[in-house]
Amino acid sequence: MRIPLDRQGPRPLYRQIEAYLREAITSGRLPAESRLPASRELAHDLGVSRLTTQSAYDELEASGLVAARAGSGTYVLTPPEARRSIRRAEWPLWQRQIQVASCPHETDAHDQAPTDRSSRQISFAGGIGDHRLFPVDEFRKVLQAVIRRDGAAALDYGDDAGHPGLRTVIAQVLTSQGLATRPEDVLVTSGSQQALALISSALLHPGDAVLVEQPTYRGALDLFRRQGLRLVGIGVDGQGMRVEELEALLLMHHPRLIYTIPNFHNPTGVCLATPRRRRLVALAARHNIPIVEDDFVGDLRFEGRSQPALKTSDAGGGVLYVSTFSKMLMPGLRVGFVVAEGPIHRVLVHAKRAHDLASCNLVQRAVCEYVTIGRYQTHLRRSGRACHRRRDAMVDAMRRFLPVDVEVDPPRGGLFLWIRLPPAISSTTLLPLAHHAGVTFAPGNDFFVEPRHGESFLRLNFATHPPEVIVEGVKRLGRAMRRALPSSGSRG
Ligand SMILES: Cc1ncc(COP(=O)(O)O)c(C=O)c1O
Repeated sequence: MRIPLDRQGPRPLYRQIEAYLREAITSGRLPAESRLPASRELAHDLGVSRLTTQSAYDELEASGLVAARAGSGTYVLTPPEARRSIRRAEWPLWQRQIQVASCPHETDAHDQAPTDRSSRQISFAGGIGDHRLFPVDEFRKVLQAVIRRDGAAALDYGDDAGHPGLRTVIAQVLTSQGLATRPEDVLVTSGSQQALALISSALLHPGDAVLVEQPTYRGALDLFRRQGLRLVGIGVDGQGMRVEELEALLLMHHPRLIYTIPNFHNPTGVCLATPRRRRLVALAARHNIPIVEDDFVGDLRFEGRSQPALKTSDAGGGVLYVSTFSKMLMPGLRVGFVVAEGPIHRVLVHAKRAHDLASCNLVQRAVCEYVTIGRYQTHLRRSGRACHRRRDAMVDAMRRFLPVDVEVDPPRGGLFLWIRLPPAISSTTLLPLAHHAGVTFAPGNDFFVEPRHGESFLRLNFATHPPEVIVEGVKRLGRAMRRALPSSGSRG
């Protein structure tokens, strides 16, 4: 691509490149979906540094004119002017009646938002591990081997409840961890989010109460809110859900479901203490309330011993155990599962069929193969070691570079550090300052039934970046905090 540049003029080169491309996009000379040359290629063509072309692309992306798609390149989006005119057009009546106010803007979805991969922002906001540690090559080989071996069978719909081989492997892994499981009680779902959606659609009706930890996973709050459920929060401390408060809440609100994340809780990182686990299961059984045990990252433990799953204390059929390969392997596989015995299993399989017929058969077979040949365990150990180092790097950097003492209880696994801010700072005032300093995090409000209760908290994902990037991100956070503080509160 040829872009005329004035190398003697006062205007920085990246601004000139940006202006040229901006004009080409808004005038329609570069139509939507055109692929821009790779920044390296453009830098070579123009005889400038790659940083210059990348900065121009970053500016265009920040204006919503282009988007970088992982592994594919940078593409032109529909120009904002055109988008505005579509919005101004007369929508059909049924569209105008739709209430969109309660839908968060896409960029607010911190849990799923991929880490901002531009060189400028360091994101601690995401809910997954480091994409650089995804075993891409190994998985490609496994996929190829499965296609070669299974041919068309791998590309058929497959079994409603999930690929039998994968269900067997899941049952074996869980059984080896002390949770005796039969393959026929496993239902493979499109991520554990779908398992949660199927369970709540099968068991709950609008207006029903659901008991959730407070704070809890935002995706569950979104789901339950969308289904018109009443959310009842129960506090969390260093030992997990405050189970001693449970019975009073059950008697007062009569929830139809208890949703809990007992291992490396999202967002606090805490694990539910073993006596509380037993008490929770016993109370739920006494009050005839199903428990959904969301074990989204339980295998990512790098210190200490694991506690028994809630489901191991269940006499049978009371606890629905949900897990996923998203956090411990790769989220884009969309492979999660639920273990459920009794009539509910049939209902869930039926609901799954009604929702999306089946999860991708090829991917399920590949995950099955990957786990069977032992690659999964190796990958888990590798990820665990990396997460351990990263957690230490983040905790250490916080001690060194934050201007205030923040309360943090380092978790022994998982992905997150949960931070209580000093009273002088709120996470909503800190967020724009942090963004400006080049770092982002998930503000506490996202995780509370009553968002304002989260003002003093923020969640940092320590798993996304290597230690040196973590240190830089924490330094930036420290700078943002210094700006948020009244000058007297600083640690110096
Ligand atoms: C606690 C928890 N449960 C479930 C999920 C859903 O993950 P997936 O649908 O990718 O399995 C997430 C994702 O962030 C999560 O944090």
